[in-house]
Amino acid sequence: MKKIALSLLVAGASLMAADGAALYKKCAACHGANAEKAALGKSAVIQGMDAATIATSLKGYKAGTLNKNGMGALMKGQVASYSDADIEAVAAYVAGLK
Ligand code: HEC
Repeated sequence: MKKIALSLLVAGASLMAADGAALYKKCAACHGANAEKAALGKSAVIQGMDAATIATSLKGYKAGTLNKNGMGALMKGQVASYSDADIEAVAAYVAGLK
């Protein structure tokens, strides 16, 4: 019984873990801490984009349908493990960066 309760707790915690700031950490290496850079000189600057635009792009990369500058596969790798909730959370975080 205890074990079940614990695994439910763990599952709950990972569902809650859609923390945009944490999810953005690895993105900062290319896009900049405040999303102010053109990643690898290839992407648009994503700072100032609204959350819906960013989420749509990320879902496109994850699905493998978006490839704006020949680097779509690279972005696919970045978001492949992100759930829809993770994508919404990181998009909302980026939209709030200045
Ligand atoms: C290794 C460098 C790198 C990392 C890490 C990275 N990106 Fe990217 N990102 C790129 C490149 C290069 C492109 C351009 C892809 C293309 O050709 O479509 C891009 C494109 C994008 C775009 C679309 C921009 C446009 O041109 O419209 C968004 C949004 C984005 N990235 C968000 C993220 C987020 C959020 C993360 C973290 C989960 C992330 N990226 C991690 C390099 C990176």
